[in-house]
Amino acid sequence: MLLVCTLEDVLCLSSRPETCPVRASANMGLESVTHVVSENNSGDEVLELLEKQNGICRTEFKAALVDITWFTESMGAGKPLQLENRHRLQVKRVAAAGTIAVPVSSHACQRRTTLNNRNRLFTDALKILAENAELSENEGRYLAFTRASSVLKSLPYNVTKMDDLKGIPNLGDHSRKVIEEILEGGTCNEVQNLIQNERYQTLMKFTSIFGVGVKTADKWFREGLRTLNELRASKIKFTKQQEAGLLYYEDLILPVTKVEADLIQQIIEEAVHRFLPSAVITLTGGFRRGKEYGHDVDFLITHREEGREEGLISKVISWMTAQGIILYDDTMDNSYHKWKNKESEIFDRFAKCFSIFKLQKMVHNLEPSGTCSHGSLATNETRGIRLAGHAGSSQHLTASAAKDKDWKAVRVDLVVVPFGQYAYALLGWTGSRLFERDLRRYAKHFGHMMLNSHSLFDNKQNKFLLAATEEEIFAHLGLDYIPPQERNA
Ligand code: CTP
Ligand code: MN
Ligand code: MN
Repeated sequence: MLLVCTLEDVLCLSSRPETCPVRASANMGLESVTHVVSENNSGDEVLELLEKQNGICRTEFKAALVDITWFTESMGAGKPLQLENRHRLQVKRVAAAGTIAVPVSSHACQRRTTLNNRNRLFTDALKILAENAELSENEGRYLAFTRASSVLKSLPYNVTKMDDLKGIPNLGDHSRKVIEEILEGGTCNEVQNLIQNERYQTLMKFTSIFGVGVKTADKWFREGLRTLNELRASKIKFTKQQEAGLLYYEDLILPVTKVEADLIQQIIEEAVHRFLPSAVITLTGGFRRGKEYGHDVDFLITHREEGREEGLISKVISWMTAQGIILYDDTMDNSYHKWKNKESEIFDRFAKCFSIFKLQKMVHNLEPSGTCSHGSLATNETRGIRLAGHAGSSQHLTASAAKDKDWKAVRVDLVVVPFGQYAYALLGWTGSRLFERDLRRYAKHFGHMMLNSHSLFDNKQNKFLLAATEEEIFAHLGLDYIPPQERNA
């Protein structure tokens, strides 16, 4: 039996039942209410009202909180409709630390994770443990610590006691022990030891070189190498990418600012539009998630008329190289059509370029205050950004160390996407990495679907599902839409 009430009814029922029309007409109390209909309120607001005004405990309040659309649609249909996700009022807050109103999902793609991390003390420690597991090529441990760190980032409260973690998924014994230790003494011994550990320090340094992975870093460490200068002085045969990584090391470890990302976008737009005037360039990666800084800048390039983007990347890179804008590039053509087993890889097959840009610092010098707004840069200084001349190859592998240098090397990823795959590419390149990983995991386990940056394949229907927007992809997957700013898992 259904008892549908408005929010006002429920407030009345619980505070002054004797005067409540619901009680009078149906002779039923609060415990019988099955649906609370509200307009323009989030689920959190409704629960908070009930809690504050009438002392109703949200964990004990079992009625469904639904939007007015469910009521009007049900009236239209002449019967109560099955509740769908879109009918439910959003509840994402937790009543008080420890009493969870809504279970926290173990999938990052079902959580909202902003940049406002309230548990940095714990997540920083867990991140170091995750990094160390990665450096030891222990994928399972890496994932366990990464997932633990990520779930803490999504909590809307500061964890101050172990009880606050009741019912929180993805926290294994080891992670809980780390948190407990930090709660008690401010630090975790294991983490403190790691920070001092020579192997950890050296491998972190070596893997921060563009083009150096864990295996290579570990090999160099085992050969007795410890510093960049030792690497530079050694007889090691570096790859082209590693050479560039060492040459521009000091610049590449500096964070890239949003202002720099916007400047690079202008440079790319100018270059791309020479060859394809109405191509669209979109800033993606961490900056699209609202980050102020990044380790690189990621862009998608597309054109409404699919096919027009073919061959674009090599033309653009050649032109920019001739202008002296590009210090290094690794450019590849689209190979989607050659991709046999489309499930086997995590990387996509778009035409793309992993590059290092030479960004003139002139703009900053012109604005000594350093407080110039992003707007003024975009409008006044665009033409002021003179593109640098050729880098000139250094034999000493330390190009970015020069004192009077007026440019900065910046890592840039460019991806050219056929328009029909654009929404998938945008979703795939916005990150975070864990968010992406859990989206794919969710698609596979709950939807029997295969998601990558090109497409979504539905195994049950045996067909690809088209999508023009990210919202449509979330809908295909049966997930609530999570905007980029809340994908910082
Ligand atoms: N990505 C990808 N294929 C690659 C590299 C990256 O699909 N070969 C995706 C990753 O899934 C990631 C996103 O592109 O989510 C951005 O990657 P990256 O630049 O490494 O990370 P950011 O989140 O942008 O972090 P940062 O700000 O440090 O650059
Ligand atoms: Mn990035
Ligand atoms: Mn990137």
